Amino acid sequence: MIMQSNFWSKALSHFLLTGLAALLFFSSPTIAADAEKIAEDIEQELRLVQPLLSDKHEADLRAHISLMYESPHAVESDPRTPAGFAKDGKVSMMCFACHGTNFEHFFKLGQDVTSNKVNNTCLGCHAGGDRMHWSGGPHELGNMACIDCHRMHNKNERLLRTTTQLELCTSCHLERRSDFNRPYHHPVKEGQLVCTECHNPHGTLTPTLLRGSDVNETCYQCHAEKRGPFMWEHEPVREACINCHNPHGSVNPAMLNSRPAQLCQSCHLTDNAHPADLMGNKPNEIMQVGKGCVNCHSQVHGSNHPGGSFFRQ
Ligand code: HEC
Ligand code: HEC
Ligand code: HEC
Ligand code: HEC
Ligand code: HEC
Ligand code: HEC
Ligand code: HEC
Ligand code: HEC
Ligand code: HEC
Repeated sequence: MIMQSNFWSKALSHFLLTGLAALLFFSSPTIAADAEKIAEDIEQELRLVQPLLSDKHEADLRAHISLMYESPHAVESDPRTPAGFAKDGKVSMMCFACHGTNFEHFFKLGQDVTSNKVNNTCLGCHAGGDRMHWSGGPHELGNMACIDCHRMHNKNERLLRTTTQLELCTSCHLERRSDFNRPYHHPVKEGQLVCTECHNPHGTLTPTLLRGSDVNETCYQCHAEKRGPFMWEHEPVREACINCHNPHGSVNPAMLNSRPAQLCQSCHLTDNAHPADLMGNKPNEIMQVGKGCVNCHSQVHGSNHPGGSFFRQ
């Protein structure tokens, strides 16, 4: 029986934390009591914290602390969360999991805490999964801390500092913002994909934080048809898609690095390659018009046609 009631109280508090709106529909005394308990806890923590941060308005701090109770870190029924492992009934344990016993620090980077200290605190619970290669990654080497991108007391998706990734990442990577504003771009600002579908900001085995083991493996996640195998392979395609494409955006159609004819001619001398009769008396025009070389060499990514050696079919 004890186990059962314990189960229900945990289930109920979970319910509460993930949806306070439920209060509008149910007014069972148990739920009301839980809401009251949280309100009490917040006041208790406020009294604890207020003297340490005397410059802060009480109202601001109360709102700030309340947000913690609506966050994924406050799931009491999950023993892995800061709230869940606060076992002795002293609610402030939840706060101490991050702030240290009796609020040693308030995560003021460079003032009361170092990047290293922040990262070790968070990695204490989040070392696996996507964080596996955090150590030695470019963001770690750039002396960044988890809280350069994440805020713990807020409601954004994945506890990000901003509402969108584009905003977050381009606040530092300014050049990427202009890439995605070019006429031909991956539809990131349109909300169809996010930076982290190609990059893992926490660290990977590649210096450029790619999700795949290299550029092409990253692209094949969504453009599987380009993987082949092809009877006739085009070397630069097998090597890296970025030989011809800018993955973020470009002024050229299909996000090409330059206009089609120039792109191909950066590697191919075409002076003697084409039979004169084929090109007529205006070879340059045929090469440049419309899709340029791709007018004829349409299977530029590779061909499975028996006669596809020149990627024309
Ligand atoms: C998951 C880790 C975590 C937990 C749990 C947590 N905090 Fe925080 N807290 C932070 C971080 C990180 C910051 C820095 C700002 C931010 O991320 O929002 C912060 C900032 C603060 C601040 C400083 C606000 C300011 O602007 O100066 C206060 C006060 C605070 N937390 C109180 C609490 C209280 C009270 C609790 C318990 C209810 C708590 N925190 C639980 C991580 C946490
Ligand atoms: C006591 C362990 C613990 C600590 C300390 C902790 N977390 Fe968490 N965190 C969790 C658990 C458990 C979850 C629940 C989600 C899951 O991983 O299943 C979570 C969830 C998250 C999420 C995902 C939220 C979502 O929407 O999915 C982020 C982001 C996060 N934590 C970042 C941090 C950062 C940054 C810190 C350090 C300031 C931190 N955590 C400290 C245990 C912890
Ligand atoms: C450069 C920005 C950046 C930094 C630094 C960063 N994160 Fe994240 N993190 C993100 C973004 C963006 C997402 C959401 C996209 C995703 O789910 O991959 C995310 C998602 C998460 C998640 C939830 C999804 C998952 O992978 O489980 C956790 C937990 C997390 N981060 C923890 C951390 C911890 C711990 C640190 C510090 C060691 C950290 N992050 C540093 C940007 C960052
Ligand atoms: C607070 C600033 C900041 C934010 C926010 C940030 N970065 Fe970075 N990023 C850096 C720094 C600093 C480096 C390392 C120095 C460098 O190479 O530019 C870096 C490096 C990188 C690299 C490797 C660059 C290279 O040339 O090898 C990639 C890729 C990257 N970041 C992607 C992202 C993504 C994706 C996000 C958003 C999820 C993000 N960054 C958010 C500051 C930031
Ligand atoms: C469609 C996949 C894709 C998306 C989406 C994407 N990137 Fe990239 N990104 C790449 C590839 C591929 C590279 C080049 C890797 C290389 O050269 O090894 C790269 C390189 C980078 C670099 C380092 C090299 C440089 O040019 O400075 C940064 C920084 C970066 N991306 C940031 C971002 C940010 C910020 C976003 C979101 C706003 C984003 N990327 C979205 C695929 C992508
Ligand atoms: C997470 C999925 C995803 C990944 C990974 C991805 N793409 Fe895309 N790609 C898209 C989407 C979505 C579009 C837009 C399709 C549309 O508008 O019909 C697109 C469009 C394109 C286009 C332009 C198509 C056109 O007709 O203009 C090119 C070129 C392209 N991607 C190349 C790449 C390259 C190179 C990589 C690897 C660096 C890559 N993509 C990785 C989803 C992805
Ligand atoms: C030798 C240069 C070159 C390389 C390397 C290359 N592409 Fe392309 N790609 C092109 C050209 C040229 C077009 C435009 C074709 C057209 O207009 O019909 C194109 C168009 C595309 C398109 C949009 C039209 C379509 O065919 O679906 C996608 C998607 C694409 N490329 C993905 C990739 C991926 C993924 C890789 C790496 C595996 C890659 N490309 C490597 C030259 C290249
Ligand atoms: C980064 C360099 C590079 C770019 C850019 C490039 N190619 Fe290639 N291409 C090669 C290499 C290397 C080969 C294989 C070696 C060879 O036979 O010349 C090849 C082979 C070919 C062949 C077959 C030639 C043969 O003799 O078998 C054709 C046709 C071709 N490319 C057309 C194009 C077209 C059209 C474009 C532009 C859309 C293009 N290439 C862009 C490097 C490139
Ligand atoms: C009007 C159609 C047409 C256009 C436009 C065209 N090609 Fe070709 N190309 C061909 C044909 C047909 C062949 C095969 C010639 C043969 O059978 O010897 C060929 C062959 C080639 C070869 C292989 C020749 C060799 O001997 O190695 C290359 C490389 C090549 N083209 C590159 C290009 C480039 C680069 C462009 C654009 C600047 C281009 N082509 C534009 C039709 C065209």
